[in-house]
Amino acid sequence: MLINAALFTLFLSSVLAETKSFQHVKYKSPESSQHIIPGRYMIEYQSDFSHQNTLNNQFQSLQYGEPLYKATTKTHIQTVRIDNTPSHDNFLQTLVDDQHIVSVYPVTFIARPHALSNGYYSRIDRNVTATIQAHQLTQVDRLHKELGLTGKGVKVCIIDTGVDFNHPALGGGFGPGYRIELGQDLVGDTYDPLATNNTVPAKGTPPLDACGDLIEKSGGHGTHVTGIIAGVDADKGFTGVAPNATIGVWRVFGCEGGSSSDIIMKAMVEAQQAKCDVINMSLGNNAPWSEQPHAAFAQELSDQGISVIVSNGNDGENGAFTVTDPAGASDVVSVASVSNSFFLGSLFSLKTSSDTSFGPYSYQVAPEAKTDIPDADIVLGGNPNTFSACESDTVFGQGQYLQGKLALVHQGPCTIVEQANRLAVAGAAGLVYFNTMENDPVRVPYRNASIPIATISSVSGHHLISILKNIGKDKVHMHFERNAFVFESALAESVSLFSSMGPTNELDLKPSVAAIGGNVFSTLPTYMGGWGTRSGTSMASPYVAGTIALLREAFAGQSILPSVLHEKLQNYGRQLNTVKQKHVLESPLRQGSGLLQAYHAIKEPLHVSPAKISFNDTRSATDVYKSHSLKVTNTGAEDVEYTIDTVSAGTIAPYGRNNDAYKLIASSSDRFYVDYNVTVSVEPSLVKLQAGESAQVVVSVKLPSDYNEKEQLLYGGYVEFRHADGRDAQVHVPYFGVLGSLYDLPTMDPKTLNIKDSQGRTYTEKDTFQFSLSDKASAPAIGFRLATPSRRFTIDLIDAEEKHVGYIVPTYNYAERDLDSSKMEELNPWTGNLVKDDNVNSKAVRVSPGTYKVRWSALRMFGDVDVEKDWVVQISGPIIITP
Ligand SMILES: *[C@@H]1O[C@H](CO)[C@@H](O)[C@H](O)[C@H]1NC(C)=O
Ligand SMILES: *[C@@H]1O[C@H](CO)[C@@H](O)[C@H](O)[C@H]1NC(C)=O
Ligand SMILES: *[C@@H]1O[C@H](CO)[C@@H](O)[C@H](O)[C@H]1NC(C)=O
Ligand SMILES: *[C@@H]1O[C@H](CO)[C@@H](O)[C@H](O)[C@H]1NC(C)=O
Ligand SMILES: *[C@@H]1O[C@H](CO)[C@@H](O)[C@H](O)[C@H]1NC(C)=O
Ligand SMILES: *[C@@H]1O[C@H](CO)[C@@H](O)[C@H](O)[C@H]1NC(C)=O
Ligand SMILES: *[C@@H]1O[C@H](CO)[C@@H](O)[C@H](O)[C@H]1NC(C)=O
Repeated sequence: MLINAALFTLFLSSVLAETKSFQHVKYKSPESSQHIIPGRYMIEYQSDFSHQNTLNNQFQSLQYGEPLYKATTKTHIQTVRIDNTPSHDNFLQTLVDDQHIVSVYPVTFIARPHALSNGYYSRIDRNVTATIQAHQLTQVDRLHKELGLTGKGVKVCIIDTGVDFNHPALGGGFGPGYRIELGQDLVGDTYDPLATNNTVPAKGTPPLDACGDLIEKSGGHGTHVTGIIAGVDADKGFTGVAPNATIGVWRVFGCEGGSSSDIIMKAMVEAQQAKCDVINMSLGNNAPWSEQPHAAFAQELSDQGISVIVSNGNDGENGAFTVTDPAGASDVVSVASVSNSFFLGSLFSLKTSSDTSFGPYSYQVAPEAKTDIPDADIVLGGNPNTFSACESDTVFGQGQYLQGKLALVHQGPCTIVEQANRLAVAGAAGLVYFNTMENDPVRVPYRNASIPIATISSVSGHHLISILKNIGKDKVHMHFERNAFVFESALAESVSLFSSMGPTNELDLKPSVAAIGGNVFSTLPTYMGGWGTRSGTSMASPYVAGTIALLREAFAGQSILPSVLHEKLQNYGRQLNTVKQKHVLESPLRQGSGLLQAYHAIKEPLHVSPAKISFNDTRSATDVYKSHSLKVTNTGAEDVEYTIDTVSAGTIAPYGRNNDAYKLIASSSDRFYVDYNVTVSVEPSLVKLQAGESAQVVVSVKLPSDYNEKEQLLYGGYVEFRHADGRDAQVHVPYFGVLGSLYDLPTMDPKTLNIKDSQGRTYTEKDTFQFSLSDKASAPAIGFRLATPSRRFTIDLIDAEEKHVGYIVPTYNYAERDLDSSKMEELNPWTGNLVKDDNVNSKAVRVSPGTYKVRWSALRMFGDVDVEKDWVVQISGPIIITP
């Protein structure tokens, strides 16, 4: 999802057209893939707010946001809105010139969190609920039963799409005396970050999701996660992780669409002021840099003793380096998703008109189905070879063939909704859909389709095809059972494919820990049927938030830092193996410390800190990074003895081996894991500790001599502490490192750094380009692709003496890599407008006729902005510009 070519082009042209770009070291223009919201800024003050009034007075004609934050020692942030007036850039200039102001951040668009749906289920048996809730996989069942922990006295706060607090399982109301006691709606139903006419709800408006019957809209995200933390339904046998915690919900998304970074910051601030102990939040931006304002603020909340839990992101299929901001902040607990052992589904069976029966098979209802999928005859619904209904001419049997029938189709090049809508036009009553998921029914993102959809596994799909092909003139009737059952999942207890991978761009080890995020059953708004399953790291992070509430309750009254509680959770994670090679231990870059084991985290005596190790890359691996010291403490009342060793996890080839284009490869690729181990040793190999005693353990990597730098292999594993009595509650500390130097990665893809004319002809540095300002068709398109993320990236125009003339693309901070090496980014033809850094108004100016060149510049990873050799620069051939 990273840089999206289309968005980028759009963004650039709007920047140039509206002259919203502004150059200053304090002005932090965001990475290129993020949308800027025009006219809105977050201003970070140096140390106090006293100066803010002066500014307010000075610019009374401007519309201000509320000051966001006043109380902490480090971050003082205010938001402002500046109307799109001519004084806009003057105002920005005044801000950056102000010595009390540290940084000015344009407000950015925040994508709506989404989760994959696995259907809704209102008819569900107690026993089914107990199994699907998976508390036995995380030992949370033992915390409830044996330790009586319910999160009482702990405030858990949720920043999300709002909640249907009228849901009986969520307490049936809002405010003092209810389970959902705190929070408010910061946006209202119709919030649109890009509109200027938003009506902000009155202060204290409850964070209700009452978006109504349009499933396509709200999606029920916040209600689902609230249920994971604190839902209770005795009849259903449903218990959230921390059912007695006090819950706060800040609604930052309207019924549709995204939110904005200033609103999310405001919610974080209010949650902090409301004295939340645990904050669970979602910020879909893919920008794993720790200096970005949310990450910095999240880190600050952590420093104050608030547990900040974020999901690691859902971009794992794109490979390594996909963790989400602010998962990048070092002490924030970022959560990977693990598949549940079970999925919820129902059964269907088939009967032919000559009375032969088949089945039962499992299916899931897609939530598009506002009505149940009807029992009916089933026929092949698509192209007879591909079984998809994507090309309109391949939907056969125009006449009565599909009328009132169920259509069986396979995934095709179009969306499931498009297939459904096409078949609906041909008269189908429902869609039975499968893709390549072998044993589990497909998960579909919630979207509205015009007919009900049932999803089935690929194995069942192929069965059905062979039945339908061999049935002759018989009809096949499909009958759906409606009750929900649990089925064993083929993906049981493996890291979800979608779960984003570390490390961060600074080579910090993320994710921190894993929880169940695949096939999670919880509450949905009553208007969506009340209950359903969802999959996403968004489901795993509230599980951890709830568990931390239980840990806080367990250790209440003892002066234990929250960071120590987080380490306990990490120390006792249970490591999982990869799905494909069942004997290979999954990399810590995918599972962090592994699936949390809450009972051990509370009851076991050994504490190891820090709970993760980064050996960094080979260029940085001076002595500082080659050896790490762990402090091992016996927090119990008895003497303990542990043997210590290391185990290797799967080594990852993030770009595939020998990949000159440095394109990150998908984690599902067969080339992703390679059999290559790096020796990590530990000293001593045995510790004996009396109650309360600590010892040091040193973990060192011995870099091999034979590795290929270019492959940038990501090795990893665990330091393992085994209790001498053989019990299975071992402690593990994950480690990883890079066999290669990030600094030496090709920052820009050289093949893409060129100019094209309107016929698509490429001009390299040896060719001369002619551009007549009066002839739009002669304008050059300027290409590029970032193969590696870059803190700073710019494209400027230089004259014959190679002096800077102006920016074609303003400076981007924190530019992300573009994953798709097959395509180069192509800017809209450059029409001759430049942004000048010496121009206070930052108005785009027209370039004067003359001879110029284009210069691409990107800062290397770990490079210093002020050191010339840390920049990678490429210069085009001459461009002769005529009037
Ligand atoms: C539910 O579980 C209980 C005990 O585990 C068992 O006695 C009962 O028969 C189960 N009910 C159903 C409907 O399976
Ligand atoms: C805001 O304005 C847009 C058009 O600019 C309109 O579509 C939308 O309905 C308005 N929203 C509200 C809440 O008035
Ligand atoms: C919440 O706490 C009360 C005691 O205050 C207890 O009776 C109740 O069972 C707890 N709820 C749950 C779901 O454990
Ligand atoms: C918890 O955070 C994750 C992402 O960080 C988000 O997707 C989810 O909605 C949040 N849950 C709650 C209950 O806020
Ligand atoms: C949902 O349905 C409405 C009306 O049928 C349509 O306008 C809209 O584009 C659909 N949305 C999606 C995501 O398919
Ligand atoms: C890795 O090394 C770089 C310097 O090369 C440093 O900036 C970075 O913080 C290090 N990362 C970690 C996690 O220690
Ligand atoms: C790497 O280590 C793993 C686990 O310790 C082991 O199974 C595997 O055989 C090793 N591979 C090589 C190439 O030594």
